[in-house]
Amino acid sequence: MTHDQTIGLESFPQPRPEVESLHAYSAPLEGRRQMLRLDFNENTIGPSPTVVEALRGIPADHIAIYPEYNGLREAVVANLGLPLQPDQVGLFNGVDAAIHAIFHAYGDRGETLLTTSPTFGYYSPCAQMQGMVINAIPYEGPQFAFPLEAIREALQSAPRLLLLCNPNNPTGTRLAPERILELAASAPHTLLVVDELYEAFSGDSVLPLANFNAMPNLLVLRSLAKTAGLAGLRIGFAIGHAAVVDRISRVTGPYDINSFAVTAAFAALKDQAYVDGYVTQVIEARRWMAEQLQAAGLLHHVEGGNYLLLWPQQPPAEVDQALRQAGILVRAMTGKPLIDGSLRVSIGTLEQMQRFWAAYQRITSI
Ligand SMILES: Cc1ncc(COP(=O)(O)O)c(C=O)c1O
Repeated sequence: MTHDQTIGLESFPQPRPEVESLHAYSAPLEGRRQMLRLDFNENTIGPSPTVVEALRGIPADHIAIYPEYNGLREAVVANLGLPLQPDQVGLFNGVDAAIHAIFHAYGDRGETLLTTSPTFGYYSPCAQMQGMVINAIPYEGPQFAFPLEAIREALQSAPRLLLLCNPNNPTGTRLAPERILELAASAPHTLLVVDELYEAFSGDSVLPLANFNAMPNLLVLRSLAKTAGLAGLRIGFAIGHAAVVDRISRVTGPYDINSFAVTAAFAALKDQAYVDGYVTQVIEARRWMAEQLQAAGLLHHVEGGNYLLLWPQQPPAEVDQALRQAGILVRAMTGKPLIDGSLRVSIGTLEQMQRFWAAYQRITSI
C-alpha cells in the first residue's frame, strides 16, 4: 500500500488557498538540446566566446564560496550607457524571479493586476498566487494593436500593477515609449512594469527617456537570457527608482544569483558587439521569413520580437509534431486568446530559418 492510499490529501498540511488553485506556468520540456529550438525565443547560437572563456576560467575554490556581486550593477549601468545610479539596478535570478519578486512586494490580495491578452504566461500565476484580481485587456483587430484607450480607462481605477510586455510576447505588438511614459504619468499609484525582454529586436526601450526620480512608479525589466544567450544561467535586471528596486530586492534571497551567472554576466555585458551582431542577424532573418510567408500567402503576424505567429492550414498539433520529427521545435499557441490555432516560431539566424522553412513547406505541402 502506498503512502497516498493510507493518508488522505485532507490530512496533509494545507497550502494557502491561492496556491492550491494555482495552475503553474509550464516551463520548457526536457530533451530539447539536440533540436533546432524555435520554441522559447532563446538565442539560437549561444553566448559570446568570451562568456564561455570566463566560465572556463573559474577556479575550483570559487565554487565553494558564496557569490559576490560587487561591481555588477555598475557594469549594467556602463553597458546601458545611461545616467543611472547602481542602486537603481536590481539583480535577479532571471527576469522570471524579478517578476515573482514584484508581485510578492507589491501584489496584495484583492488588488488588481492590469495587463494585456495574450501576453507572457508568467504574469497571471504570479498575480494568482498573491490572490490578485486579473484584468487582461485584449489586443485589438487582426494586427493585434495595443489597446491604448482601454488601458488608459482601466488605469483610472488605480490598479496596483500594470504589466506591459514591449514588444509583446507572443504578438510582437509594439508600443511607443512615449505612450508608456504618458500611461505612467497618468497613474502615479500604479506600478507600471515594462518587460523589455525583447526590446533589442524593436529598439523601443523606455529607458533612454525615463527619469525614475520624477516617475518612481515605472520599472523596466531587462534580461541576458535571450539576446546575450545566458538563459541557462538565469540572470535578469529590474531598473527603476532606487526605493522600488530596494523593496523588490527585499523579497529575494541573499544569494539567489549564482557565481557562474555573475561571471557570465560581466563577460556578456562587456561584449555588446557580439549581442548587436546576433540581433542584426535575427532582424535580417525576420525580414526574410516575412517575405517568404507573404509570398506563400500564409496567414501570419510578424512584428517586434524574435518570433512570429503562423497559422498552418493543417491542424497545428500535427504540424508541430511533424516539425519535431524533423528536429525542429516550435510552440503551439493552443488555447491562447485571439491566437488559438497558431504556432509561435522563434527567429534565429537566416540559415536556421531556411532550414525551418524548407521543413515547413515539405510538411504542409506548399
Ligand atoms: C516576456 C518575457 N519576460 C520574461 C521572461 C523570462 O526571462 P528570464 O529568462 O530572464 O527569466 C520571458 C521568457 O520567455 C519572456 O518571454
